Amino acid sequence: MTFMEGIEFKQLTQTGLNTIEDFHLLFPHWRMASVQKKLLATNKRRDKRFVAIKEGKIVAHVRFVSGKGLHRHRVEVTSLIVDPKHRRQRLGSELMKFALKAIPKKKKLVMLSVDSKNNAAIDLYRKLGFEQYGLLKKAAFLNGKMVDNVLMAKEI
Ligand SMILES: CC(C)(COP(=O)(O)OP(=O)(O)OC[C@H]1O[C@@H](n2cnc3c(N)ncnc32)[C@H](O)[C@@H]1OP(=O)(O)O)[C@@H](O)C(=O)NCCC(=O)NCCS
Repeated sequence: MTFMEGIEFKQLTQTGLNTIEDFHLLFPHWRMASVQKKLLATNKRRDKRFVAIKEGKIVAHVRFVSGKGLHRHRVEVTSLIVDPKHRRQRLGSELMKFALKAIPKKKKLVMLSVDSKNNAAIDLYRKLGFEQYGLLKKAAFLNGKMVDNVLMAKEI
C-alpha cells in the first residue's frame, strides 16, 4: 500500500457491495450484473486490478492483464479511469506508477491501446515512458462510431 495526501493505492482484493457500487459509479455504462461478473474474475493469477481509495471510496482504477504462452512476458493495461471529480490531481499517473511497480520481474513489456483522440490519456502514458508503436484504424466503437487506437508500449 502507498499513500498520497489521504489517498491509498492498493491491489483490489475484495469484491464486496461497496466495491461493486464504487465501480458502478466509476463505470456508469457497466450494468451492475456485469460489474459483479468482472469483479469475480479479478485477482486470478493473470488479471489484477489496482485502485486508489479516498475516504473509503474507490476514486481510480486500472486493470493489468498478464500474457500467457508466447506472450507470457507481456502485460496489457486496460480500464484506467479516474473519478471525474478527482481528475488532474495526478491520481491516474500515481496509480499507474503503483501498478507498474507491482509487475513481476519476469515481465518485460507493458502494452496498451487508447483512442487516438484521447490526448489526455496519451499524454499521461507518454509521461510514464510509453511510446507509440502503431495506429490501429477502426479499432473500437465509441458512441456508435468507429475510432482509431494509438498502440503504445513500454519496456520494463
Ligand atoms: C485520462 C485520465 C485517466 C487522466 O487521469 P488524471 O488523474 O486526471 O491524470 P493526471 O492528473 O495524473 O495527469 C497526468 C498527465 O496527463 C495529462 N492530462 C491528464 N488529464 C488531462 C487533460 N484533461 N487535458 C490535458 N492533459 C491531461 C497531462 O499531461 C498530465 O500532466 P500535468 O498534470 O503535469 O499536466 C482521466 O482523465 C480519465 O479517467 N479519463 C476518462 C477515462 C480514460 O480516458 N481513460 C484512459 C483509457 S486508455
